Amino acid sequence: MIRLFDTHAHLNDAEVFPRVDEILSRAQDAGVRRIVVPGYDYDSCLRALDLAARYPHVRAAVGFHPNDAESVRDGHLAELESWCAQDAVVAVGEIGLDYHYDVPRDVQDRLLRDQVRLARRVQKPVVIHDRDAHEDIVRVLAEERVGDAGGIMHCFSGSVEMMNQCLKLGLYISLGGPVTFKNAKRPVAVAAEVPSERLLIETDTPWLAPHPHRGKANEPAFVRLVAETIAGARGQSVEAIAELTWDNACRLFAWERDEP
Ligand code: NI
Repeated sequence: MIRLFDTHAHLNDAEVFPRVDEILSRAQDAGVRRIVVPGYDYDSCLRALDLAARYPHVRAAVGFHPNDAESVRDGHLAELESWCAQDAVVAVGEIGLDYHYDVPRDVQDRLLRDQVRLARRVQKPVVIHDRDAHEDIVRVLAEERVGDAGGIMHCFSGSVEMMNQCLKLGLYISLGGPVTFKNAKRPVAVAAEVPSERLLIETDTPWLAPHPHRGKANEPAFVRLVAETIAGARGQSVEAIAELTWDNACRLFAWERDEP
């Protein structure tokens, strides 16, 4: 029996949250046995904590996304740090840089640096979002010594060259739905090249549904399609990809490898 670990699913998304029981039941049927739910703003962090408290196989990441950087108020970072004391919080995220939208870059830069420093203090890995900001993200993460906390390049969209820079920083590479798209080239090249001990899989639910569900609502059950595509690119079995990404996620999140 295959066991899959979806390292990034926004079950805390306002549209997804009310349907979470049916989504988790389909995930169970598909062999998805653990899920990490990342926050992106204050309320979504609270919903991630709520889910992690209710379901033992779900844990939370807490953090403020660059697209929501302007909604971060005084006191939010202190609260974020206090949430990190909970056992159910396994990472700080998702955080990062996004140059696709118009949030001022200096605001994003400051928020990212503050949260990487926080992650180093609490000794939890970071979950990094990078959209159209490849050069700056690598530079800022290096300057802030992200390797002291460790972390994930979530839904990695860079080249093999950038992957190597991220590996040098001590980061894991997580691949999602885009690796399955018919026109996918870079993510497939990355899938073939990532060292086994640094590869993770994810859905980014409800976004970026894999082929043949592209354009529809994504959900953790679909992470198997991501694992299958990666298995094909690496010439490995889907069982092998499931097992090695399981082990990697448990190591990174300090989550005991064996289920109760
Ligand atoms: Ni996300």
